[in-house]
Amino acid sequence: METPKNRPCWCGSGKAYALCHMELDFKLAMLRRKGQRTPPRELLKTPAQIEGIRRSAALNMAVLDYVAANIGPGITTGQIDQWVHDFTVDHGGIPAPLNYQGFPASVCTSVNQVVCHGIPSHRQVLQEGDIINVDCSTIFNGYFSDSSRMFCIGRVNDTWRALVDNTKKAVEQGLAQVQPWKHLGDVGDAVNRFARARGYSVVREIGGHGIGLKFHEEPYVSFVSQAGTGMVLAPGLVFTIEPMINLGTHRITVDRRNGWTVRTADGKPSAQWEIQVLVTEHGHEVLCW
Ligand code: MF3
Ligand code: CO
Repeated sequence: METPKNRPCWCGSGKAYALCHMELDFKLAMLRRKGQRTPPRELLKTPAQIEGIRRSAALNMAVLDYVAANIGPGITTGQIDQWVHDFTVDHGGIPAPLNYQGFPASVCTSVNQVVCHGIPSHRQVLQEGDIINVDCSTIFNGYFSDSSRMFCIGRVNDTWRALVDNTKKAVEQGLAQVQPWKHLGDVGDAVNRFARARGYSVVREIGGHGIGLKFHEEPYVSFVSQAGTGMVLAPGLVFTIEPMINLGTHRITVDRRNGWTVRTADGKPSAQWEIQVLVTEHGHEVLCW
């Protein structure tokens, strides 16, 4: 639907269309005619939606800060699940993973060779030398946020610690590509090159995703992608950067009993950091990490 240029913009900013999204819409239409994959309007968040997502993301970060302040040797992943659940609910949020497609907990806790979607358990005690990804996702006032961090439990050997640190750096390399009119493939390619240059492998089957009004929206964010390909990044697009980077093989297995836990095929460790990012007019805004 074309909005006349003097009418209020479709995004609800209150500004005239000609002074708000008109130029962006024209540019996207032009790129679409040239055969590029452009985000549909539904994926471009309005100012009101962005504010809602920011508040959800702020709570998601607070949950992870709480975990960071309390995690350590002797803590069980079941306790982490309880903390995440209670902190989120006490602050008016809902843990997005709980019952999501049947997931049985409020958070994913992925230790050592677990790549992602680890299920917390009161029987799983964190030991000195472990590395763990804690992946939190929050619904607040209907808006979704999602980020994850790695934690080193006590003293961790240099190889494993380097994997954790380099995986964070790989995310930062991807983030640097998040600028309007670049492509999603530029993000994945930057992550992938950085990781492989350091001798790591990158998980191929699982990636990031659009997010905001739902937990998982378009686009899918691959970390085995070619620069210059994939969706055009336009202001208002919100997605996650969350590569899983392995010390050994890129190959993974899914637990046959619970259908969730993803592990490296060779039993070597895997690391993941996840940030949620908004494409802005001149670059990006990290919503949560
Ligand atoms: N938090 C994960 C992500 O980053 C999704 C986990 S789905 C769940 O996309 F059900 F396991 F929570
Ligand atoms: Co995610």
